[in-house]
Amino acid sequence: MKGIILAGGNGTRLAPMTSVVSKQLLPVYDKPMIYYPLSVLLMGGVTDILVIARPQDIALFQRLLGDGSRFGARIDYAAQATPRGLADALIVGREHVGDDDVALILGDNIFHGHEFGSIVVDALKNNDGATLFGYEVSDPERYGVARLDQDGTVVDVVEKPADPPSRLAITGFYVFGNEALDVAAGLSPSARGELEITDVIRHFVDLGRARVIPLAGGFAWLDAGTSESYIDACNYVHAIETRQGRKIACPEEIAFDAGLIGTDELRASTLQFKSSEYGNYLEQLAERNAA
Ligand code: G1P
Repeated sequence: MKGIILAGGNGTRLAPMTSVVSKQLLPVYDKPMIYYPLSVLLMGGVTDILVIARPQDIALFQRLLGDGSRFGARIDYAAQATPRGLADALIVGREHVGDDDVALILGDNIFHGHEFGSIVVDALKNNDGATLFGYEVSDPERYGVARLDQDGTVVDVVEKPADPPSRLAITGFYVFGNEALDVAAGLSPSARGELEITDVIRHFVDLGRARVIPLAGGFAWLDAGTSESYIDACNYVHAIETRQGRKIACPEEIAFDAGLIGTDELRASTLQFKSSEYGNYLEQLAERNAA
């Protein structure tokens, strides 16, 4: 299984915050936004990851994440010259994915909830086509929306429907079989001029090979697409982390817990962030485990 984080786009809905900085580099409370989707992939054990970004942002992402070894992963980078839609990630990422299956996640999607790690591991293991994560929202017209039949089988997916068939939004985390690459390569742009991920999904729906895993009520799925949802995401992370004393989406911690890195790598990160609260958190983690 290969991973792709799509961190392209012009972030126009967040301008001027995004006038000179890529949206996925903006902080969500105490860490850059891309740490959140990176953490999801690591939780699922996906360690061969391609970050797709605008050409002018690649060097910044590289500076931030390096070659991934700090997180026990391998991270490569590819440029997307124009934001042609989500499905374009499967075209840009073709070489990276090779003959494998792919877990594609959007650089601005934040997931948090009980046992999410095992849900992801399970989804990756049992994928037979397309595995999607559904989340009930009050404003489904902003998203791709799934229509399920009485047995819970996906019968249709629609992108930003004016008249949504349900409130079940399809989140920005997708697991696809390798044929999704060919499906994406054969797509034509939609009416809004994008290569739609929902068109890739529909291929699997038609074959009866698409599955939606509903994320239950206690889950948080946040996107940081507008100023309002951005501050909601920051406040959510702040509230939970302060209350619990545990970080959401600390990739070093996830990698350490999974045995992808040892105390040496952890200590190296600790030194790098020495004077920050994030660095202190890593330091405590390293100390607890040295004892
Ligand atoms: C995209 C997808 C949509 C999905 C959403 C999740 O929307 O097109 O199907 O529900 O991400 O964040 P966009 O970010 O283009 O508005």
